[in-house]
Amino acid sequence: MIIHETNLEKSNSIDPFESKIICGETLKTLQKIPGNSVSLIVTSPSYFLGKSYEKEQGFNEYLEDHKEILQECKRVLKNDGAIFWNVAQTIMDKEIFPLGSIFYNIFKQLDFHLKNWIIWKFGGGETPKTRLFGRYENVLWFVKDIDNYIFNIDEIRVPSKWITDKRCNENGKNPSDFWEIDERTNMNKITDIKRKLNDFRKQISIETDIYVNQIKMDEKIREIENIIDDLVHSKNNVLNKNLSNNIWYFNRVVNISKKEKIKHPITGETHPCPFPESLIKRIVKMASNKGDVVLDIFSGSGTLLKIAEELGRKWIGIDKELKYCEIAESRIKSLRKQSTLTRFLDVSIDNT
Ligand SMILES: C[S@@+](CC[C@H](N)C(=O)[O-])C[C@H]1O[C@@H](n2cnc3c(N)ncnc32)[C@H](O)[C@@H]1O
Repeated sequence: MIIHETNLEKSNSIDPFESKIICGETLKTLQKIPGNSVSLIVTSPSYFLGKSYEKEQGFNEYLEDHKEILQECKRVLKNDGAIFWNVAQTIMDKEIFPLGSIFYNIFKQLDFHLKNWIIWKFGGGETPKTRLFGRYENVLWFVKDIDNYIFNIDEIRVPSKWITDKRCNENGKNPSDFWEIDERTNMNKITDIKRKLNDFRKQISIETDIYVNQIKMDEKIREIENIIDDLVHSKNNVLNKNLSNNIWYFNRVVNISKKEKIKHPITGETHPCPFPESLIKRIVKMASNKGDVVLDIFSGSGTLLKIAEELGRKWIGIDKELKYCEIAESRIKSLRKQSTLTRFLDVSIDNT
């Protein structure tokens, strides 16, 4: 599944419909992908923070390199294609530089169009002593053609707050551009929330559609929100479970327990900054269709690739570090093993 970029001799020699991880430099590899072949790029570049996988270079050179890469991204994207660019901020001489705004200017120079500037909020992380810690990142959604792009809103609706209000879409509302997703929960507290939600439902069902007592509803909701808040900040019993609530809180994978981290199959090494799966799932469902080609040009531990495989998309990942390509490969292999086993069990049950 892993191909070394140097083994791809001629230009445009990558078949985009064959899912694969390419171990190599992003720019050189991109140049070998045929134009107009990719529906969606979701990626996160390095943030110029001096991480081990970053090139030693000045900030202007870093930006120039990424501009060249983004130009190639535009070439490989189909006309209805989109790119989701995840960046936070960088720090130089104790000063903060907002990469979102800096890259926005580059995207505009390349004639991309911004559809949403999504804020991904999370908790945890370092606590700097001389400034506040920005506990959010930016996800900039750019399209090539402002009038023609994929937007599957029905795939990503979230529950409406006022379900009894007839003006609300019964299938849920459009998620806002402020994304909070938490995958951590605590079993006892979930049971408590379920009980309270049941009480809440009972209470609503005895009131008519029109005469819902909003004060009582607000009180109940606040009670539930408080428990959720407590739960989100609880350090114990961290489980990989999402709350089906309209408070979405995608925690950073680096903040979860060591046991849950995605590790290299042999060395046990982890990737320093994998995407949370729920964040990527929402983007892939929203901005691509089954059978489309999706690409991560800095694929690291392969989160996008795994989600794309799960959702029936073709995928390509590019990363220059072999150890990260191997982590990605092992994630895909275990996903494939799991789905073969599920299919086998389904057939066995059908035949009994
Ligand atoms: C922010 S991480 C991406 C993590 C990824 N989103 C995930 O879910 O694991 C950036 C990745 O880009 C890779 N990288 C940085 N510069 C690169 C370059 N010039 N060519 C190829 N890969 C590069 C690094 O090795 C690193 O794994």
